[in-house]
Amino acid sequence: MSRLFAMVYDRVLKASEEACVRSWRAELLGPLTGTVVEVGAGTGLNLDHYGSGVERLVLVEPDRHMRARLAHRLAESPWHGRAELVDATAERLPLDDDAADAVVSTLVLCSVPDQPAALAEIRRVLRPGGTLALLEHVLADHKPRRAAWQHRLTPLWRRVADGCHLDRRTTDALSAAGFDVSGLTRESMRKAAPVVRTTVRGHLTSA
Ligand SMILES: C[S@@+](CC[C@H](N)C(=O)[O-])C[C@H]1O[C@@H](n2cnc3c(N)ncnc32)[C@H](O)[C@@H]1O
Repeated sequence: MSRLFAMVYDRVLKASEEACVRSWRAELLGPLTGTVVEVGAGTGLNLDHYGSGVERLVLVEPDRHMRARLAHRLAESPWHGRAELVDATAERLPLDDDAADAVVSTLVLCSVPDQPAALAEIRRVLRPGGTLALLEHVLADHKPRRAAWQHRLTPLWRRVADGCHLDRRTTDALSAAGFDVSGLTRESMRKAAPVVRTTVRGHLTSA
């Protein structure tokens, strides 16, 4: 299933990318500087948006089918020969404590098997005062009918969308992990299925 997911991923996201996600990526990633670690880099849709302030880029991706597509996109990007492509999970990053100035997670915390462990690991590798640049779809707890559908559909969705949960309370998990979530923006992902439309994004620091 992960092979099929990797194959269709860019096509499934295309309308939303054009409607809003591409500009969200640019706004999130353009200001990052220093050592940047992207977890769950997928097919590499963030690659175009890193700015000249990034000195070291580490792309972490555990799925081999996604990694193959990422390698292909990387070869055609300005990061070719400079970014590091790593087979690892967000729950276990092969990096020293405080190694990163920024960690990037876009549409990944819905899929990691152990969200608290991934967030603890992200905190471990982020230097004090470092930034977590985040874009995630979340449980629509402000829309009870949508939230009910998210709960109902998650068991099936997880199977077809490679482990993705529709109903995660990611903002609460970020708070519990010690991130200040007060600056997060909640916005609808246009042209997306209603069950993944509720998103949060922003730059977070440790509380
Ligand atoms: C929906 S895709 C998002 C891809 C990309 N970040 C983007 O913004 O388009 C989710 C990605 O998370 C990866 N992933 C799943 N479990 C993971 C884990 N435990 N640690 C890191 N990445 C993981 C998947 O392989 C997939 O590439």
